[in-house]
Amino acid sequence: MAEAERYYVTTPIYYVNDAPHIGHAYTTLACDALARFMRLDGRSVHFLTGTDEHGQKVAKSAAAAGMSPKDFTDKVSQNFRELAKAMNFSNDDFIRTTEERHKKSCQELWRRLKERGEVYLGSYAGWYAVRDEAYYGEEELTLAPNGKRIAPSGAEVEWVEEPSYFFKLSQWGDKLLKFYEDNPQFLAPESRRNEIISFVKSGLRDLSVSRTTFNWGVPVPDDPDHVMYVWLDALTNYITAVGFPDDNAPSYRKFWPADLHMVGKDIARFHMVYWPAFLMAAGLEPPRRVFAHGWWTNEGQKMSKSLGNALEPHAMVAKYGLDQVRYFLLREIPFGNDGDFSHRSMVHRMNGDLANDLGNLAQRVLSMINKNCGEQVPQPGAFTDADKKLLSSAHGLLAKVRPLMAEQAFHRTLEAIWQVVGDGNRYVDEQAPWALKKTDPARMATVLYVLAETVRHVAILVQPVMPHSMAKMLDQLAVPDDARTFSALGDGGTLKPGTKLPKPEGVFPRYVDEAA
Ligand code: MSP
Repeated sequence: MAEAERYYVTTPIYYVNDAPHIGHAYTTLACDALARFMRLDGRSVHFLTGTDEHGQKVAKSAAAAGMSPKDFTDKVSQNFRELAKAMNFSNDDFIRTTEERHKKSCQELWRRLKERGEVYLGSYAGWYAVRDEAYYGEEELTLAPNGKRIAPSGAEVEWVEEPSYFFKLSQWGDKLLKFYEDNPQFLAPESRRNEIISFVKSGLRDLSVSRTTFNWGVPVPDDPDHVMYVWLDALTNYITAVGFPDDNAPSYRKFWPADLHMVGKDIARFHMVYWPAFLMAAGLEPPRRVFAHGWWTNEGQKMSKSLGNALEPHAMVAKYGLDQVRYFLLREIPFGNDGDFSHRSMVHRMNGDLANDLGNLAQRVLSMINKNCGEQVPQPGAFTDADKKLLSSAHGLLAKVRPLMAEQAFHRTLEAIWQVVGDGNRYVDEQAPWALKKTDPARMATVLYVLAETVRHVAILVQPVMPHSMAKMLDQLAVPDDARTFSALGDGGTLKPGTKLPKPEGVFPRYVDEAA
């Protein structure tokens, strides 16, 4: 048998200075939906997430908590593992940058850069924002009313002066531009493309890649007074996890270059400029694609610690339900754009798309079958044009959504599936199977069969976004576990007339506001 096509998808690794909020859950959710989709589509998937534990920002948070960086990171990293569990993320690995495998990998990458003359010793004097773990040029800064200098991200900067190794980023501008041109799928979405290209065209300065004023990091090989710059350390996690420094390891050969690094727009530059430059400079292949998604606000406001309005994933899940939150985040806004969370829009999706549209379709069909077809998958007769039309739109869905998922258009994928849900609901109304019970029971059975097949297709395709709820729906159709992949779509896994069905139960309850 031919080897399954592979798919390697990564989330950013999260800083452990903070409790996870919905922004963190969002990036990983997008990767989870992709990983699940690709697995169901027969691909061999490696889905990576983890925590970014070195650097000044984490060291400061540890000190503020009165803990050693080691104890602090052990504790906070756990919150991100728990988040993954609570959100039903299906990551295959969870990497921590404090692991031994990662230290080896970073040091080897450094050696290769050094050997190739890409790194030299100098000294840095300039501005640094601990919050972003980023260097800024004077011209990028603005002056706050309190006299402090502020980076474009809003982070305060401080003056830093220390011996430092530099990476010759200035030499990589033209090569990066050529790489973007030769690989048009690399920068995504399109809106980020121009931004990144004009940043590179404006000229790149050499990048300081080591620090000496603290030691919470990976020591620079042969010069232990320096620790590696936390972004060089952090980005390297993507190759560590598949076996680097052994770039002959089967897992490295299989999975590198990654198919997709998913990131937020705030860290686009690190992934779209620095990372491919580091890799090319070390003689390694850059990833195939980086997608920088937008940011969520809460009821129109930026989420922040000081405002105390960060949306907490566990609380949202407790209030609205896990799959409801997962659906909302991927359906509400065109993926790539910024989005605003509001209670109103959340309830609107829950009661509209989920309870009224999909939930109602499944519930109507299953309870009619339960009452009128002896609790069994009905035996269809000959199909009419209307039957064939609905079945063929259900059968055609996979071909429609595959290219949409390949470009991370989750909202369009769900929209296309809900189109069929809408067709299904209209078909029920037109065919009025309840009225056929007395006049033409054989026709009723055909109509209910067509509908059950439609629900089966929708449920299989929605699994990546709402795994629990769709498992329940497929249970109610008595679809065996091994017939829930995309190979069971179309005629691959048609429902078998006569199969006994369990008693149907609603999958998507309506949300009723307490105040209402
Ligand atoms: N540690 C770095 C990443 C290193 S990757 C080699 C980092 N960590 S982070 O914890 O600050 O952020 C991780 C991700 O969360 C980013 O992709 C960021 O965009 C995302 N989000 C943080 N707040 C967000 C929103 N309000 N909305 C959407 N995503 C947001 O950066």
